[in-house]
Amino acid sequence: MAKLGWLVVSLSVSVLVTNLCEAISSCNDPCKTLNDCDGQLICIKGKCNNDPDVHVGSHVCSNEGSGEGSSPPLGDSCQPFGHKVCKGISHPQFKCSPRVTSSTRAILTNIEFNGDGENGAPSECDNKFHLNSELVVALSTGWYNRGSRCGKKIKVTARNGKSVLAKVVDECDSISGCDALHAGQPPCRNNIVDAAKAVWDALGLDTDVGEEPVNWSDV
Ligand SMILES: *[C@@H]1O[C@H](CO)[C@@H](O)[C@H](O)[C@H]1NC(C)=O
Repeated sequence: MAKLGWLVVSLSVSVLVTNLCEAISSCNDPCKTLNDCDGQLICIKGKCNNDPDVHVGSHVCSNEGSGEGSSPPLGDSCQPFGHKVCKGISHPQFKCSPRVTSSTRAILTNIEFNGDGENGAPSECDNKFHLNSELVVALSTGWYNRGSRCGKKIKVTARNGKSVLAKVVDECDSISGCDALHAGQPPCRNNIVDAAKAVWDALGLDTDVGEEPVNWSDV
């Protein structure tokens, strides 16, 4: 899929170059689509910039684009690669999540893994449903990391100081959304720990608040 994508990009870039003699934009030049940007660069917020998914060592643009000549803080290099529109509202799509540390800031949300509610599909890791009484979570696409944390426990800590170990069983999809398959829901944000009610209970939190800042770490 990714390879096909690059093939299409390279083809359209060469078509532009050979047929239209159009200049290809480089770092920080204005762009409308990926195709407007040079080589590995992608179009972020209307400017050509490094693809955050490509390893840092191969980044071409020194200035990541947002600051006035200042480098962004470490761990803030995860930028959206596109957008999906649900009901007229544009939502960013991410393949990355903020860097994982011993205390990674996240937003705790609540989801049912038992097939009820908006999430009708079995969990990505084990293709099974889970009870609301199980200590299980889904992580945003970047943190889910193609399943590398599947079955592993993470430690989630709330502002009240309480913490709990929860098992990663699913992905909170930060790439797709806004379609029937996702019940019209937008792509997941890139910093979500989507947890069963048992996790909220163990942290002494009420799911009615909807979202709660937490920190998490690998254990
Ligand atoms: C998360 O960790 C940071 C830095 O260690 C701290 O300032 C913040 O209060 C913590 N947040 C929660 C919800 O524990």
